[in-house]
Amino acid sequence: MKNICVLVSGGGTNLQALIDAEKRGEIKGGKITCVIASKADAYALERAKNNGIKTRVLVRKDYADVAAYSKAMRDALIEEKADLIVYAGFMTILDEQVCDAFPNRMINVHPALIPSFCGKGFYGLHVHEAALAKGVKVSGATVHFVTAECDAGPIILQKAVEVQGGDTPETLQKRIMEQAEWKILPQAVSLFCEDRITVKNGVAEIS
Ligand code: GAR
Repeated sequence: MKNICVLVSGGGTNLQALIDAEKRGEIKGGKITCVIASKADAYALERAKNNGIKTRVLVRKDYADVAAYSKAMRDALIEEKADLIVYAGFMTILDEQVCDAFPNRMINVHPALIPSFCGKGFYGLHVHEAALAKGVKVSGATVHFVTAECDAGPIILQKAVEVQGGDTPETLQKRIMEQAEWKILPQAVSLFCEDRITVKNGVAEIS
């Protein structure tokens, strides 16, 4: 069984999707063993506690800089014996100390079809604001490996979602979560835990 550590910052609906998938037996070969939040008041912590999952809180402002915060996060993940680290709405920047310690063992869910609307500054509702401002007719979600470059690691799964007339950032976010994120994140986690993902020349292949 692989130990899955989930990093969160907010509401935690993606964490909930993972918990529900695990309960349905859909995370084959893995178990969520720890949830680490970057904010003490993240509702995701309640979701973890309600399901008997260990929680830890590492608040960014308690550390002098990104390097000190990243070191503390890396040490916590090593202590938790993490086999897989999942960014599920984790909004705090970590430096290469963390991805160097866990190469191709960290995955992120992003609420757009990478390489569109990604990179620095594209997070949460901002992503959907940018997609609507551009007038795209299709958006979606991407699950990818985390590398030192923001949102640039090998893509594991993507799912497209239609943009509808009259969409607001909030309605688009909700549709993308329901139709894409909450489905492909648990799928990708299970594929990882079943050892079905390999990365060759920066491209993820699923067997
Ligand atoms: C999700 O839409 C997730 O894809 C996005 O934040 C939201 C968190 O919601 N993440 C990013 O934008 C990261 N770049 P949740 O806390 O309810 O899972």
